[in-house]
Amino acid sequence: MAADADPTPTAASLPSSGEPVARMDEIVSLCARRGFVWQSSEIYGGINGFWDYGPLGVELKNNLKALWWQRVVRERDDVEGLDSSIIAHPRTWEASGHVEHFSDPLVDCRACKKRLRADQLDDAGPCPARQGTSEHDWTPARNFNLMLRTRIGAQEDAASEAFLRAETCQSIFLDMKRVRESARQKIPFGIAQIGKAFRNEINPRNFTFRSREFEQAELEFFVHPSERERWFEHWLAQRLAFHRELGFRAERLRVRPHRPEELAHYARAASDIEFLFPFGWQEIEGVHDRGDWDLRRHSEYSGKDLSVTDEETKERYTPMVIETSAGVDRTCLALLCNAYAEEKLPDGETRAVLRLPPRLAPVQVAVLPLAKKLAEPATQLAAALRRRLAVFYDEAGNIGRRYRRQDEIGTPFCVTFDFESVGDGQVTVRERDSMAQQRIATDALAGYLRERLEGGG
Ligand code: GAP
Repeated sequence: MAADADPTPTAASLPSSGEPVARMDEIVSLCARRGFVWQSSEIYGGINGFWDYGPLGVELKNNLKALWWQRVVRERDDVEGLDSSIIAHPRTWEASGHVEHFSDPLVDCRACKKRLRADQLDDAGPCPARQGTSEHDWTPARNFNLMLRTRIGAQEDAASEAFLRAETCQSIFLDMKRVRESARQKIPFGIAQIGKAFRNEINPRNFTFRSREFEQAELEFFVHPSERERWFEHWLAQRLAFHRELGFRAERLRVRPHRPEELAHYARAASDIEFLFPFGWQEIEGVHDRGDWDLRRHSEYSGKDLSVTDEETKERYTPMVIETSAGVDRTCLALLCNAYAEEKLPDGETRAVLRLPPRLAPVQVAVLPLAKKLAEPATQLAAALRRRLAVFYDEAGNIGRRYRRQDEIGTPFCVTFDFESVGDGQVTVRERDSMAQQRIATDALAGYLRERLEGGG
């Protein structure tokens, strides 16, 4: 892919507002009821900030990750993949600045003991413990480090203490030299990784939006210092194009450059890609110019030189890093909020429909025999399609109800096997969005569906 791609839209060139479509309670209820996502450890009363992805949720998430990997790694010859361990050497987090800087301001109410992030006091509600006033009695804010700690091995001393990674990118910096040499890459090039990250968030909230365990899809792209601005613009444009490909409408997507006082300790410049959730505009991805902060600090702390030499000019320098850091869970949540709609149909009924991009839908095609008598040939058809597509077979209930069940989980195509199918070798394909139906020969069906799914329509 060419390095000098499209001009990057800015906050100014994108609409600043739009109407949220879905309500959060509808999304949360759909997710639990239909098996997308629910709170972890439900039978023990749940555990705050942790989530389980069910049969449909894991498919949606895997499809999203596969598309990201395809676009960011496979389609480029200047990006390599990595799957590093979740626990890195504890010095990593001293060098990265997380031990010192990765904290949020925390306050406690002296009366009711409620604990909140100091910048989220609007969430507090009235204090139940004070007489004559509903106001809380907050302590001054103090810093609370968000790194989750664990121990390694049988010892219980300070030397055994380690951290669950707070971002997936740090191991990319530790492994940069080995990846570059083993993959015979030259600057500019990037390393990408998808994986779990952990943050001891003070107030997990808004469903999966702010969790304590979540997944990131990150790319660290190493460039010559003279090229950082160009690559920052390039990657911001690439990432915006990706979000548009996910079907996020322009009025629900915007870029918000960080003000200098907002910048993370490692960042020289940053822009958030924000989506308009039912609870307002929020970040789903950050694009950061991290400068040489990480490589320089890891060189210093490890004693290993992480600079590179330009083979032509013989210049020795520490590469600058342009980072794109997307939240997989947040993007899944944005996909669900963006896709959910309730529609009035001509017959007066209402249907709930998830207009997910077809290639991301957890079920791509549902095979539905019109009557139980047709189960045998319909099952055979489903089995044949299953080799190439994500198929769900359903023979329970009337056909209208079965269509509604598929609409609600975003299945782009329903294939109905009826009595005529036995004789003419054709089935009815019903499309989720238009609800249009057409007859297709069963031997052409897999090809037809693949084409429609890959083409996005
Ligand atoms: N390596 C840079 C980094 O981690 P970040 O802005 O802190 O930057 C990047 O996080 C992305 O990770 C965010 O845009 C968001 O999508 C996701 N993320 C961060 N904290 C999260 C949380 N508590 N729950 C879910 N996703 C989170």
